[in-house]
Amino acid sequence: MNKVNIIKVNDYQEMSEKASQYIIDKVKANPKMVLGLATGGTPEGTYKRLIEDHDQNGTSYDGVATFNLDEYVGLSGDHPQSYRHYMNERFFNHIDINKENTYVPRGNTVDAEAECEAYEALMASVGGIDLQILGIGGNGHIGFNEPGTSFQSPTHIVDLAQSTKEANARYFANIDEVPNQAITMGIASIMKSREILLLISGENKHEAYKQLIEGEIQENFPASILRNHPYVTIIADKAAIGE
Ligand code: PGA
Repeated sequence: MNKVNIIKVNDYQEMSEKASQYIIDKVKANPKMVLGLATGGTPEGTYKRLIEDHDQNGTSYDGVATFNLDEYVGLSGDHPQSYRHYMNERFFNHIDINKENTYVPRGNTVDAEAECEAYEALMASVGGIDLQILGIGGNGHIGFNEPGTSFQSPTHIVDLAQSTKEANARYFANIDEVPNQAITMGIASIMKSREILLLISGENKHEAYKQLIEGEIQENFPASILRNHPYVTIIADKAAIGE
């Protein structure tokens, strides 16, 4: 793999510790950084540790701007399963970031196409993302870029794969409540980040890890494109690696 740095850790907890320390070091080095953020189960422990560090050591996010990868179409920011709500509850409300500098696509906008264009323009207007945090779907998706998404895609509207709806149904009352569409940064948007930190944990991600490391670079496995990115770090635990 091209210049990819793989940090192997024992488990989810150690992954979260390493990831948070990685982010803290970057924020300290560049207090005005633009941070790309992800939701889902993978980064939850990382956000917890960032909050602990903020409380204990006072690391400041006062000058930091954030852009989240994605949001469900149709959910407003105060819907409990919206990613805006997730970010507020699990991170933003507990640190000293200026909420106005935290961006998540607006899922309940009347014109989702225009929202995609505006989001892409907004990222460009702040000079692009310095460090993008990523998880990976079992099917290789990054953000909500499902298999088959063009590597050239900017922020766009996607139909969620059935496997993604099933994976995310655990957060909803039932699978029928999972929205069918989302707005997601595209593959091209993600690849524009200066640096990427990909987190992978658990046995259910082992196949994805393996394909990421060993498989072909192809649109049917979106994360494979990361091997063409000049600056990627992966923090993976033993279960994901298969050790
Ligand atoms: P997860 O999702 O962190 O909840 O496993 C990752 C993803 O689907 O990108």
